Amino acid sequence: MTHLPPGSRQPALLQTVQLRDPVRYLESLRRRHGPVFRMKLLGLPPQVVVSTAELAAEIYRTDGDGSRAGALRAGFVPWLGQFSLFTNDGEPWWRHRKLLSPTLHGRSIAGYPDLIAEIAAEDIRTWPLGRPFALQEHMQSITLEITLRLVFGVRDVNQQSRLRALLLALSKASGSPALFLMPARLRAWAERSPLATRVPFLPTTRTMRASAAVDKVLFGEIARRREEGDREATDVLGRLLQARDEQGRPMSDQEIRDELITLLEAGLETTATGLSWAFERLMRSPEVLGRLREEMERGEDERYLDAVVKEVLRLRTVIYGSGRLLDKPLRLGGYEIPAGWVAIPMFSLIHQDSEVYPEPQEFRPERFLGEGAKAAQKSFLPFGGGRRYCVGAQLATMEMKVIIREVLRRVELTPATPEPEAQRMWHATLIPGKHAVAVARQRPLTQPPSSEQPTCPAHPSAPE
Ligand code: HEM
Repeated sequence: MTHLPPGSRQPALLQTVQLRDPVRYLESLRRRHGPVFRMKLLGLPPQVVVSTAELAAEIYRTDGDGSRAGALRAGFVPWLGQFSLFTNDGEPWWRHRKLLSPTLHGRSIAGYPDLIAEIAAEDIRTWPLGRPFALQEHMQSITLEITLRLVFGVRDVNQQSRLRALLLALSKASGSPALFLMPARLRAWAERSPLATRVPFLPTTRTMRASAAVDKVLFGEIARRREEGDREATDVLGRLLQARDEQGRPMSDQEIRDELITLLEAGLETTATGLSWAFERLMRSPEVLGRLREEMERGEDERYLDAVVKEVLRLRTVIYGSGRLLDKPLRLGGYEIPAGWVAIPMFSLIHQDSEVYPEPQEFRPERFLGEGAKAAQKSFLPFGGGRRYCVGAQLATMEMKVIIREVLRRVELTPATPEPEAQRMWHATLIPGKHAVAVARQRPLTQPPSSEQPTCPAHPSAPE
């Protein structure tokens, strides 16, 4: 067979507009056309979408020889920088992947849980009690704080608060849907043209200005840390300063700056969103929440918590898909996809495959335990796959587990309304439509870690 897959015949503009509600739109295309279908979006090459893990694996087989991911992310270069892991391909990408990966895995992050729990606890103490508030904002400030202290390693309190405000502004500006939906060519022009960069209301202008302000502080931090020369530093910046490639070359200041901003952009909103969905789902699933609390209180191993995190990321997939630009034709599901097309494993559809996940709309962490776990795991792609698999997946999963545990230990959460929150597109992520609105009530602290000292002697078991 050499023909193209079926797909919508609507004009590109109409298809692009409908992608503002990606879950419903993509599901309708899959129902109409089957597991492989094509799409045409404004300003982008033609696209082929797949909705099973087997077909996704065929796309991942082209990684490194036959397709590129970075080429599709060129629009991010003006503020992520020319060295970013996210936007590069080939040798420059591979060099950075090897330098960056060890700083985010295994032993490098094994000491992080205590500080993550501490950061979460600090934030939880500021939560209003007994009235509705949006959890998403608090998840963002917790993940921002983690980025500041564990990734950037900023220790000075004044510098922390300065950078916090600037990073928040950058994250807000660069997360705007207007920016994400801007056709790539128009965006590239608006980011570089001296005329366009002076128009204050353009999302590109706001992003570039915020990025310049962050850079000033970051380069100062990098210079200060180089001078300090602390070989024992355990934050990501400290480790990147020590990292050497196969030729023994260190990373330049610009390379380090580009990766720090990349980690901020790729890791902050995504993890905050995963956490918001975790609470949005748990609050509305008393059985799951009950079992999780019980197992936590009994001091069980982390298996159920791990399954809860996976089930959240399956059912409420944070990033709905991540594509590859084909350099060579690809045979995919019996079709011949030409070079120059974009092939996209659509995670939000793959995670709804009812052959792998019976009653896929149900929140059922047990899928990832026991008999069916192997099959469930095989189709579980919230962090993508192939050589471009999310480099922060281990850290993100750790953050989610530690923060969920800390929140459940300290407060009871109830949903402000019984209806589930809709999935709404924000940048490349799908966030809870009302930002995970909850009502929190204090609960007596259970199982305080040995290091924890109650600060109020009159109420030794109450959260400070
Ligand atoms: C729940 C949280 C997260 C989710 C759902 C997520 C998801 C993803 C996905 C889907 C990709 C694309 C993979 C592909 O194209 O196959 C990706 C790439 C990436 N992620 Fe994450 N991510 C999360 C957290 C993080 C964190 C915490 C960091 C860093 C601290 C991070 C850093 C990156 C980077 C640098 C890339 C680009 C990798 C490359 O192209 O080689 N992510 N992530």
